[in-house]
Amino acid sequence: MSANNTDSAIQPNRRKLVDGMGRTIVNLRISVTDRCNFRCTYCMPEHNVEFMERSKLLTFEEITRVVGVVSAMGIRRLRLTGGEPLMRKELPVLVRMLRGVPGIDDLAMTTNAFFLKDQAKDLYDAGLKRLNVSLDALNPEKFRDVNRKDCLKEVLAGLARAREVGFTSIKINAVAMRNFSESEIMSLIDMGRSQGFEMRFIEFMPLDADKIWERDKVLFGHEIVELIQKKYDLVPIDNSREIGPASEYDFVDGKGKIGIITAVSNPFCDHCNRIRMTADGKLRTCLFSTSETDLKALIRGGASDPEIEDAIAAAVWIKEPGHKINLDSFERPERAMHAIGG
Ligand code: GTP
Ligand code: 5AD
Ligand code: SF4
Repeated sequence: MSANNTDSAIQPNRRKLVDGMGRTIVNLRISVTDRCNFRCTYCMPEHNVEFMERSKLLTFEEITRVVGVVSAMGIRRLRLTGGEPLMRKELPVLVRMLRGVPGIDDLAMTTNAFFLKDQAKDLYDAGLKRLNVSLDALNPEKFRDVNRKDCLKEVLAGLARAREVGFTSIKINAVAMRNFSESEIMSLIDMGRSQGFEMRFIEFMPLDADKIWERDKVLFGHEIVELIQKKYDLVPIDNSREIGPASEYDFVDGKGKIGIITAVSNPFCDHCNRIRMTADGKLRTCLFSTSETDLKALIRGGASDPEIEDAIAAAVWIKEPGHKINLDSFERPERAMHAIGG
């Protein structure tokens, strides 16, 4: 980390997406809706959610235009997120449009799997190849309690359908919360091992709409590893942080691997290579950003591609060094997770 954002001798590099700390951005997460058919406790309020007006959402054409601009600046990897991305109508159409953008070599989606039973085939045929599925509990009552929807069966059917239509790379994400997740970890691990899913546990972050987050409610990564090691030997995989937020471990018996996302206890911000765009067209350079760049206003105001490029390069240049969850100066973003995109 050599450069510093206030050094006037250093100018933003307008062609490549590099920030003031020297991090190269290759990964854009695109939220396509803030709506969701679940009301997970760690993310959304149970009642009276105010959703974005539909006219405020970027159209598929507008999203594809932004992707065209950033792919010329080095973005290679895209992930569609929500809310629940499959609440957005005709998502396979967007998948096809994004597949056609030169330079994009990875297109993935994070979903709760509820709609996969009906939509997995169209998504796969459109060119989506990787899925990360949120699943926090295999006990139906616990599933209902945390997701505030009684539909474990539908989610498992969605997962099965995704496999059937050809998705080979499926990861499962469980948010790890103290006094909730402990009893679920082994059954999730065993399902992952027997069905070939990479099971990942994510430390609960202060992004829930109800603001129930407290440090004491986080089940930490090292505790999860200790729990798993009571039954299975694990060996850390080298350099996993270069690829994404998860620290990965192989099972010593050769049957698969797991990931631990220590977003609170050991953040990966120094290696961060990602930015986000919300469904209403705001660029966020950090999951925890407290300010945004309004790309929709630029697009709808008639900005040219170089003008959009300039705005993105300038925002990335002052990308936050990292989140401050562990500092007294931590400030929650105004948006809850469902309106950011995860
Ligand atoms: P791949 O490595 O491409 O499979 O994707 P991923 O792990 O980045 O994607 P996924 O959407 O599955 O991310 C898993 C979870 O990690 C998210 O739901 C968030 O809870 C958390 N996460 C993802 N990106 C960030 C980030 O930039 N910062 C922090 N603090 N947490 C993140
Ligand atoms: N902390 C950690 N992960 C979260 N997610 C949502 N809210 C939080 C949070 N507060 C993750 C979950 C969810 C995905 C979209 O984002 O895995 O399923
Ligand atoms: Fe990147 Fe911000 Fe996430 Fe840290 S918290 S990894 S800087 S997006």
